[in-house]
Amino acid sequence: MKIAIIGATGTLRRHVAEELRARGHDVRGLSRRSPDHPVDLTTGAGLDTALKDCEVVVDASNNSGRRAAATLVEGSRRLLEAERAAGVGHHVCVSVVGCDRLPDSYSRTKAEQERVVQDGDVPWSIVRGTQFHEFVADLLAMAGRWRVLPVPDIPLQTVAVTEMAKAVADVAEGEPLRGRIEVVGPEVSNARDLARQWRSVTGRHALRIPLPMPGKAGRALREGNYTSEHPDVQGRLRFADWLRAGHAQNERTAR
Ligand SMILES: NC(=O)c1ccc[n+]([C@@H]2O[C@H](COP(=O)([O-])OP(=O)(O)OC[C@H]3O[C@@H](n4cnc5c(N)ncnc54)[C@H](OP(=O)(O)O)[C@@H]3O)[C@@H](O)[C@H]2O)c1
Repeated sequence: MKIAIIGATGTLRRHVAEELRARGHDVRGLSRRSPDHPVDLTTGAGLDTALKDCEVVVDASNNSGRRAAATLVEGSRRLLEAERAAGVGHHVCVSVVGCDRLPDSYSRTKAEQERVVQDGDVPWSIVRGTQFHEFVADLLAMAGRWRVLPVPDIPLQTVAVTEMAKAVADVAEGEPLRGRIEVVGPEVSNARDLARQWRSVTGRHALRIPLPMPGKAGRALREGNYTSEHPDVQGRLRFADWLRAGHAQNERTAR
């Protein structure tokens, strides 16, 4: 199949593309900085040409800043419109476990993006994932430079991006679900414990300090809304084993 992936330069996209190419598909990477298929979801520029002949679109774009709604919500509307015109038969939206239960602005934007996809004309599937090991390791490495690790007291169920990518590829190859699946890691761990594991495996000296999470968003996170009790797909690679295998370093080198 001809499959377009939006978010050509992103963490997840690279692994989804590798997975789909290994399965024999013709994969096209689209994003603002893509040399071959530049597109901008905030304006719609480039979408018509880039989607020509594509059967499936995987939306793995992201923005958690000021342009989040313009990219994810308005961007999805523009993308679905271009897909309809190009005759795309399956739209796969990558999303986040718990986004409909969390009150922070990024989660609300992701939930709104899901609604746009669900209400759109293109047959759809939504693949929700928990936080990637890569994302947590990057945050810890950044904070670790200052020899302090400010970590909240919240449960997470982090998953390796390769395992998330396999699940996204499985969905992209199949019939549209007109529904969601949830992909999680093998275990629920407190973020403080993940920081302890990171320190122990990397041998970095950094002081763990509690990061208060006040308000409704903090309460919702402490209640475990970033985890899933009944996931559809559960990864096998634990955070500490993933770190020991050197994946954090490989990922940074690949970027
Ligand atoms: N990170 C996590 O822990 C995590 C966990 C669960 C689910 N997810 C979901 O997984 C998806 C991908 O996340 P990620 O962390 O892999 O993202 P990422 O590394 O931040 O990559 C985002 C991608 O989006 C592209 N992009 C941004 N704005 C764009 C625009 N206006 N037009 C076209 N492309 C644009 C970027 O490329 P250019 O800059 O070249 O445009 C980049 O390739 C998101 O839906 C996210 O919600 C992430």
